[in-house]
Amino acid sequence: MKFFVDTADINEIKELAATGLINGVTTNPSLIKKSGKEFIPLIEEICDIVSGPVSAEVASTDYETMIKEANKLKDIAENVAIKVPLTEDGLKVCKELSDGGTMVNVTLCFSAGQAILAAKAGASFISPFVGRLDDISSDGMNLIADIVTIYDNYPNFDTEILVASIRNPMHIIESAKMGADIATCPANVIKQLYKHPLTDAGLDAFVKDWAATGQSIL
Ligand code: E4P
Repeated sequence: MKFFVDTADINEIKELAATGLINGVTTNPSLIKKSGKEFIPLIEEICDIVSGPVSAEVASTDYETMIKEANKLKDIAENVAIKVPLTEDGLKVCKELSDGGTMVNVTLCFSAGQAILAAKAGASFISPFVGRLDDISSDGMNLIADIVTIYDNYPNFDTEILVASIRNPMHIIESAKMGADIATCPANVIKQLYKHPLTDAGLDAFVKDWAATGQSIL
């Protein structure tokens, strides 16, 4: 399973990239706003830090403008994946870019039917938003299960399932059990995966017992 970090915060990206556990980055207009930085230079900076796919989202919603924006964004770096919304125009843009060899991440997916359309449009990634479905008392993980089943039925679908809107470690673990390809997570959720009280207690005891031996490895 690949991990992307869902942030536009350069310090977070640098810190996580240094662990060697991060395979890509996803951004969106809200994360760009939160960063307070200029969009294009920021994407350039992220692409210098991370060699895997870096999602940069178009800002407009009509086909003509989205294509122009996408063509500008894809020239930033070879690892830019253009993020488009799951709309009729968005999928037209997806098909055109995918046919031309550009990676496309189709975002704001909330149904299995939408995921089928994105795969047919040649998307590199489909982003189903699990947390936002949970937020409205729906079950986000059911959507992942449905998409995994559907995509497995059609080996000619090359689209990777990029689980998005992740709120907690269980979203990651359940996605991995289902065989989703990628989880894009806020940095704090990735950090929560390290944590277990028995690890802390066990390490504490080992450190104390080692000190009591009076030995040194070095
Ligand atoms: C995915 O690419 C999105 O940027 C993100 O996962 C949305 O998450 P949110 O619902 O926490 O805003």
